[in-house]
Amino acid sequence: MHMSLLAFPFAAAFVSAGHYRDIPRKIKESIQGPPRGWLRSDPAPPDRLLELKIALTQPHFPILEKHLWALSNPKHERYGAYLSKEETEALMAPHPGTLEVVDEWLSSYGIEEEYLYRSSAQDWVTIRVPVALAEKMLDTKYHIYTHSDSGESIVRTTSYSLPENLHEHVELIQPTTMFTRLRPFRSTLHWSTSVSSRSTSPSTGTITGPAGNPVDASCNITITIDCLRQIYNAVGYNTSATNGNQIAIASYLEEYANNQDLQQFFQLENPMAYGSNYTFVSINGGLNNQSYAAAGIEANLDTQFAFGLTYPTPATFYSTGGRPPYIPEVQLPENGNEPYAKWLDYVLSQEYLPQTISTSFADDEQTVPYSYAKRVCCGFAALGARGVSLVFGSGDGGVAGTKSHNESDPGQCFSNDATNKTMFIPTFPSACPYVTSVGGTNYIPETAALFSTGGFSNYFSRPDYQNKTVTKYLETLAPGTMMAFPDVAAQAFNFSIVYQGQQHNTYGTSCASPAFASFVSMLNDARISAGRPPLGFLNQWLYETGYAALNDITVGNNPGCGTEGFNATIGWDPVTGLGTPNFEKLLELAMAA
Ligand SMILES: *[C@@H]1O[C@H](CO)[C@@H](O)[C@H](O)[C@H]1NC(C)=O
Ligand SMILES: *[C@@H]1O[C@H](CO)[C@@H](O)[C@H](O)[C@H]1NC(C)=O
Ligand SMILES: *[C@@H]1O[C@H](CO)[C@@H](O)[C@H](O)[C@H]1NC(C)=O
Ligand SMILES: *[C@@H]1O[C@H](CO)[C@@H](O)[C@H](O)[C@H]1NC(C)=O
Ligand SMILES: *[C@@H]1O[C@H](CO)[C@@H](O)[C@H](O)[C@H]1NC(C)=O
Ligand SMILES: *[C@@H]1O[C@H](CO)[C@@H](O)[C@H](O)[C@H]1NC(C)=O
Ligand SMILES: *[C@@H]1O[C@H](CO)[C@@H](O)[C@H](O)[C@H]1NC(C)=O
Ligand SMILES: *[C@@H]1O[C@H](CO)[C@@H](O)[C@H](O)[C@H]1NC(C)=O
Ligand SMILES: *[C@@H]1O[C@H](CO)[C@@H](O)[C@H](O)[C@H]1NC(C)=O
Repeated sequence: MHMSLLAFPFAAAFVSAGHYRDIPRKIKESIQGPPRGWLRSDPAPPDRLLELKIALTQPHFPILEKHLWALSNPKHERYGAYLSKEETEALMAPHPGTLEVVDEWLSSYGIEEEYLYRSSAQDWVTIRVPVALAEKMLDTKYHIYTHSDSGESIVRTTSYSLPENLHEHVELIQPTTMFTRLRPFRSTLHWSTSVSSRSTSPSTGTITGPAGNPVDASCNITITIDCLRQIYNAVGYNTSATNGNQIAIASYLEEYANNQDLQQFFQLENPMAYGSNYTFVSINGGLNNQSYAAAGIEANLDTQFAFGLTYPTPATFYSTGGRPPYIPEVQLPENGNEPYAKWLDYVLSQEYLPQTISTSFADDEQTVPYSYAKRVCCGFAALGARGVSLVFGSGDGGVAGTKSHNESDPGQCFSNDATNKTMFIPTFPSACPYVTSVGGTNYIPETAALFSTGGFSNYFSRPDYQNKTVTKYLETLAPGTMMAFPDVAAQAFNFSIVYQGQQHNTYGTSCASPAFASFVSMLNDARISAGRPPLGFLNQWLYETGYAALNDITVGNNPGCGTEGFNATIGWDPVTGLGTPNFEKLLELAMAA
């Protein structure tokens, strides 16, 4: 997002809407009320600026999706022939007629081209308008809503309308009905203050890892970079600094990766990487506060493990703003928490992209409006079509979603709608069929981590690539037809990181995501060095052949919502997916694909 986007002047809120006054309005989206935890207070100040993002209909998405299925299917002749930025954008673009109708509507309020920001594919239009004007345009009333636990305040509404003739051209407009609270899985509740140290570890000698090779006994207590390479059978694999392969971490909110901590971590866990650096990319005003006090646990964990494991692969850290810094006298942020769309807007506009990207942020699926989840999911598909492997942590609340396991009391597992029915809580983006979702394990031999979120989407139906595998699990349970997750898993307990100059242990699928992504990046490294395209969207390969190179996790379960959750079992399960990496075997299969 260009910060130069002009705010449309307040006075213009009183211009006539021209002939649009005569076209009947129809409700575009509405929700019963704010999700649990949000309380409505005063009407929003009329002159408060809102940055409205308008998603235009993408008539060619089904074609884009067909390309994705072909390009990421090893059995297809077009496997790996990824689309360019231009080709992808052409398939994301709205119909010219759509642009015309929407421009005309905006223009009827005096909002001309100079006040518009358009995404690279022209599929999003962003305007900055005062609440008073947004209320006229959307025939609604905005209020201030406050979150009871966090005290966070946002400007939202529970329903909005558009002229009838716009409905087929506009997919959604936000911020309106979206109350999601995107957050890193690693909350302070997971924080172990005990300082870990390998040297004081009581365990010496070796034990046998899942691949049958020796692993330091200390790895059954504390996970380091060496441990992950040993456990997942990648000791001695060297990546290239210059073959064009890259890895990236996507971070949101005020999560800063502290460079001093990173260097200290490198000294401890990968001295070869000491002194190396990564590229920092700010999106939508994302900041990079290098004060020790501002270090983020999530950002430190992600950069330390992903960059440490894959060094010397060139690395990027995306910092996407979206919840502006708290300014006491201005308590209402101008934007909502919808940074995925902003992040996608940026990355999809780039000519060259990192081949592997890990994200450890998410929310409960039901708090993300279906229209927004679907649209963002389509953006992930577009990245897949361009050859990017997207990896997300599955969540840390067991079957109770993103809540930390400690908070997952049975009282929380209800649907947000009028039915208030008891249910497990799937997470987004893990439940999007175009990303790879990573659950968590612990110990050696590996067992499912009890916080590992998994289950079934209530939004997305099951993609074909899951049918064979997932049905096997469902045969013994009630059969369903929805997208299942996670896809895979990795160690997720007692990761030894450096935070504000001290060694700490941390846990969560936040650990598993950068860990799994690092091995994917190494596979991409090998393929690129051999002159082959990267793996791109991984799931078709994983479910069809790759699973044979994963360690099947068959012990453990993911309790939550007052239940024992699901059981890990032979084959795919909604706790650990298809299993954890055996890099040497994966490499063999990846080179044969
Ligand atoms: C985590 O570390 C604690 C001690 O710091 C140890 O008791 C526990 O077994 C470890 N858990 C795992 C899963 O490694
Ligand atoms: C990887 O690099 C290390 C250090 O430079 C070297 O000792 C080792 O032989 C390399 N391994 C392979 C498989 O090339
Ligand atoms: C590493 O990169 C960050 C972000 O671009 C920058 O702030 C920092 O100064 C760099 N550190 C070194 C040692 O070059
Ligand atoms: C950076 O973070 C520190 C600690 O939270 C804070 O005191 C400082 O004001 C921040 N700096 C900027 C430029 O935001
Ligand atoms: C749960 O919370 C309690 C109290 O804050 C804490 O002592 C305990 O370690 C937490 N358990 C886990 C698994 O995080
Ligand atoms: C939903 O149902 C539960 C259990 O019956 C009840 O405790 C809770 O208050 C209900 N929530 C709402 C918003 O009605
Ligand atoms: C790893 O630790 C777990 C939990 O303490 C234990 O059950 C298991 O036997 C240990 N593994 C090995 C190989 O010693
Ligand atoms: C896969 O399963 C889904 C849900 O049951 C179904 O809609 C779809 O047609 C199935 N696909 C194939 C290829 O069987
Ligand atoms: C999970 O395993 C436990 C213990 O073996 C068993 O009692 C339970 O019925 C299983 N749950 C499901 C849903 O299969």
